[in-house]
Amino acid sequence: MYEALFNNKFTDAIFFYFCILLLFIFSPFLFTWELITTLRSCFRPTENMAGKVVLITGASSGLGELMAYEYAKRGAYLAIIAIKEAHSRLEEVAERARELGSPDVLFLFADVSKVDECRTFVDDTVTHFGRLDHLVLNAGIGPLYSIDIDATKFAPVMDINFWGSVYPTQFAIPHLKKTKGKIVVNASSAALLNLPKGGFYNASKAALISFYDSLRFEVSPTIKITILTLGFIQTNFITAKYSTDGIGIRLKNDMGDMYPSMGAEPCAKAIVDGVCKGATSIAEPRFIKALILVKFLFPQLHHIIFNVSVPSDSPSSLES
Ligand SMILES: NC(=O)c1ccc[n+]([C@@H]2O[C@H](COP(=O)([O-])OP(=O)(O)OC[C@H]3O[C@@H](n4cnc5c(N)ncnc54)[C@H](OP(=O)(O)O)[C@@H]3O)[C@@H](O)[C@H]2O)c1
Repeated sequence: MYEALFNNKFTDAIFFYFCILLLFIFSPFLFTWELITTLRSCFRPTENMAGKVVLITGASSGLGELMAYEYAKRGAYLAIIAIKEAHSRLEEVAERARELGSPDVLFLFADVSKVDECRTFVDDTVTHFGRLDHLVLNAGIGPLYSIDIDATKFAPVMDINFWGSVYPTQFAIPHLKKTKGKIVVNASSAALLNLPKGGFYNASKAALISFYDSLRFEVSPTIKITILTLGFIQTNFITAKYSTDGIGIRLKNDMGDMYPSMGAEPCAKAIVDGVCKGATSIAEPRFIKALILVKFLFPQLHHIIFNVSVPSDSPSSLES
């Protein structure tokens, strides 16, 4: 029906600019809508988490650990997951979460990139607590990529960040349907801003956003999905010490020193607050949303901004 319109380069271009014009005309209304939504969310009722069951992957440190504490303060039962490493602090996190108010914490070692281990930790959680209310998909790695490194080394990024979220989701959905539960997906603003040297990390997080935005149509309104698009948050993740995960570029400086970053505790609190209020997406710090808008409206400007702020490491400092 619209073939004639889009097959002709001139009418196709006219249509494109017409859409852009509409966007500019409506932007004041969209801005007002955004403000109203933000204000309304302050008054939205908060889900009472006391006695509910929350499963968090990647909870041995950083945001996973701090989200566990936020849920614990709200009286939720917890199942916390991390890969079994000699240095793992998972048991300590469980102990602290109990002190903060969680009635019971189950800690389980598993590698989220292994489908059988995901099935086991979801089953163990439901067997132990009898239900599942929130599934928080947080485990992730973020090695920086350069074209000089063998791309095959980066397969774990997709395995952990993407498949490591999809597998637990598949096993948890029948249980979440029973409780009208929630799925929280820790994607990243990097998926939308496409940070330099983030190739595989950005792609894995973009895949998460695409997958869970589609899944939303299938499972809502029974199951609610919250997608997180965070900026730089002060955890090990953005420090030079932890920058390679054994595969990527070793940073010379912490990213927190190069880019504006947010504290991990306020970020974890904002996430759990937002999830409990039923937010469908959460961007922290909030200015990240504006950057994402710039990227989509003015891609050239976005390119200039990030071109001048590429991490200063040269290929000579590659680890691999
Ligand atoms: N920090 C940021 O600036 C930022 C920004 C946007 C999004 N994010 C996302 O936030 C999430 C949490 O990151 P974070 O900043 O809190 O960093 P983090 O402290 O390094 O946390 C990552 C967690 O994932 C776990 N993990 C890694 N591989 C795993 C595997 N195969 N199986 C199970 N657990 C595994 C880690 O366990 P071990 O340490 O025991 O291996 C750790 O508990 C990540 O998905 C990251 O992409 C972070």
